[in-house]
Amino acid sequence: MKLVLLGAPGAGKGTQAKKLIEKNAIPQISTGDLLRAAVAAETELGREAKSFMEKGELVPDTVVLGMVEERLGQDDCQQGYILDGFPRNTAQAEALDQMLASLSMELDAALSVDVPLEDLMKRLTGRRTCRDCGQMYNIYFSAPAEEGKCDKCGGELYQRDDDQEATISKRLEVYNEQTAPLIDYYASKGILKSVSGTGDIEEIFANVCATLGL
Ligand code: AP5
Ligand code: MG
Ligand code: ZN
Repeated sequence: MKLVLLGAPGAGKGTQAKKLIEKNAIPQISTGDLLRAAVAAETELGREAKSFMEKGELVPDTVVLGMVEERLGQDDCQQGYILDGFPRNTAQAEALDQMLASLSMELDAALSVDVPLEDLMKRLTGRRTCRDCGQMYNIYFSAPAEEGKCDKCGGELYQRDDDQEATISKRLEVYNEQTAPLIDYYASKGILKSVSGTGDIEEIFANVCATLGL
């Protein structure tokens, strides 16, 4: 399965991707996660990306495209993958099409996870993530048993730097302007599917699997 996950910030792309990889043993390629790792490691790419991410703006396409191309060429991607948070604008979507053509790969689907705008702020301000295993929590909807500590591995939970209200507003604006048009882009290619991202995480996952025929 070669899949693109579309959805606004906080729609649950990462949450559903993590469940899909447990079921299907294919990698999740989250450009956000790759960029955050580069920022933490203080690589040149990370230094370039940091100022954009802090403002809630998109990192320049050239930075992201190089990163994705390298990742798609790796062995574990040959059977399939889930692209989470990429592509983010039409230029990236067109570049992805070219990349896939040159690798003789084709996308099976672009799945849009739809959540009303008014739900997103609380999801994002409440998000906490495990530093060690990446498990996601939410202090309002799915709090860990012990505050600040991962239920799965005991790791420390942290809050993302860009999950502050002002930055979230900017990310939502960028999504509406630059990323939402990709829904039409994939619809016109005939590979768009969509699910509601509201409600119980397990129920959403069941719908995701049914929609994708998994
Ligand atoms: P990125 O990391 O991709 O962030 P994003 O798109 O803003 O999406 P999020 O990760 O915030 O949301 P999500 O949909 O994964 O939701 P999650 O599952 O965590 O990008 C960050 C930045 O990196 C960008 O702003 C940009 O600067 C840069 N960047 C990344 N990719 C780029 C690209 N291709 N080009 C250029 N720049 C790029 O869930 C959110 C919360 O909700 C969690 O707490 C979760 O527990 C909770 N939750 C999930 N499902 C439910 C539910 N059903 N009910 C209640 N709560 C739920
Ligand atoms: Mg995410
Ligand atoms: Zn953990």
